[in-house]
Amino acid sequence: MKKVITYGSFDLFHEGHYRLLQRAKALGDYLIVGVTTEQYDESRGKLNVVDSLIERIDNVRNTGFVDEVVVEDHNGQKIEDILRFGIDIFTVGSDWTGKFDYLKDYCEVVYLDRTKNVSSTLLRQRDRELLKIGVIGTGRIAKRFVPEARRISGAELYGAYNPHIESAEAYAKWFELAMATDDIEKFMENIDAVYVASPHATHYDYVKTALEHGKHVLCEKPMVFRGSQAEELYQMAEEKNLILMEAVKTAYAPGFNQMISIAKSGLIGEVKDVEACFTKLTSKGVREMTDQAYGGGFTELGSYTLLPVIKLLGTEYKEIRFDSILAENGIDLYTKATFIYDNAFALSKTGLGVKSEGQLLISGTKGYILAESPWWLTQSFEVRFEDPNKREKHFAKFLGNGLRYEISDFVYMINGHQGRAYKFTKEESIAMAGIMERFLRKREEREN
Ligand code: CTP
Repeated sequence: MKKVITYGSFDLFHEGHYRLLQRAKALGDYLIVGVTTEQYDESRGKLNVVDSLIERIDNVRNTGFVDEVVVEDHNGQKIEDILRFGIDIFTVGSDWTGKFDYLKDYCEVVYLDRTKNVSSTLLRQRDRELLKIGVIGTGRIAKRFVPEARRISGAELYGAYNPHIESAEAYAKWFELAMATDDIEKFMENIDAVYVASPHATHYDYVKTALEHGKHVLCEKPMVFRGSQAEELYQMAEEKNLILMEAVKTAYAPGFNQMISIAKSGLIGEVKDVEACFTKLTSKGVREMTDQAYGGGFTELGSYTLLPVIKLLGTEYKEIRFDSILAENGIDLYTKATFIYDNAFALSKTGLGVKSEGQLLISGTKGYILAESPWWLTQSFEVRFEDPNKREKHFAKFLGNGLRYEISDFVYMINGHQGRAYKFTKEESIAMAGIMERFLRKREEREN
């Protein structure tokens, strides 16, 4: 019996997939198809797969050509499968010609002609109009956004708004955007969704204006500094059926999500303590050191350190205490935020003027998880136990500067798939704004 194997995502199942499977089956007697998991697709840079794994497997099975389906979830699996199943022929479409020649040491490799003019990528784009994204604010983070947004199918970066027209124009020219304006009405008229990357103090007004104009919003962190403002904005978005997302990039990264799932799975028992640290020595002249209202270490980096605390222990802490070392202008150079929960603790350490080991430590009743710096760009973490032989090291891809994951989820949710909202919920975002509010109130009290 001749055994054939092929692999793919098979998203939005189309004629090209059907014809490939038909010819793959005809190469032998028994056809095995490897269908990729969402996580594996993400790790290889395919971020916008629409159909769930189950749907994609069903579609592959329904062709009637397939004798067995396996799930592909890691690099190197192809060789393992070929050896395990005793495969005679490996086949894929001609778009991969040459890429799998290394498998010739194990079996025959056949590249089948790809069907012209159809692909999942094309279908994902054709199904819906290209989403036009406009950027508000054209500073440091906005510059990092562009190359990442360009990797996301179904979205186009259309224009930039800045009250200083020269800045908007320079940004639009540099990135070859169609529109640069200092007229907010004109800006809103021409776009479908907004990325707010302006100074912190302006977020609330811009988000509100965008929602009033019926636009979806992705807003840089911290979105706002008052719990009530966050609540108001999310309520507005819900009433208008719009997506509002706070851009805490770590929350959307595949490795971080895997780490949180493992912590919640019971593998390390009940989580009793979360310690997260992020420090970044910063020169004196930059915005986060000079903005006396909203600058400082906690407002700048606290969105990252609070994230694992809130994700794992929830929003219902019993007590919170802030201890800060302040600079002469009143901003905090270093802050420890201590949380007391029912039966659990947490500590967030952030600093712009003190350097420490930037690690995340999640302690449980059966073991702990340690993620080293830069854990906020989660590429690896280790699960450890009393018995050092049981240690597990996990690796995940974190591509580019990581903004692509939040942008991809933003576009995905706008396109009607709510399934990724769990990564950073509105309740979590509101709780974070509430914590920032308490911190700023305390800092002001200390100053006066
Ligand atoms: N395939 C094909 N003809 C097409 C599209 C895909 O023969 N027009 C083949 C691919 O070469 C691969 C298999 O179908 O062997 C599964 O490919 P997959 O990557 O899932 O499909 P694409 O439509 O190419 O997906 P995407 O646009 O997301 O890359």
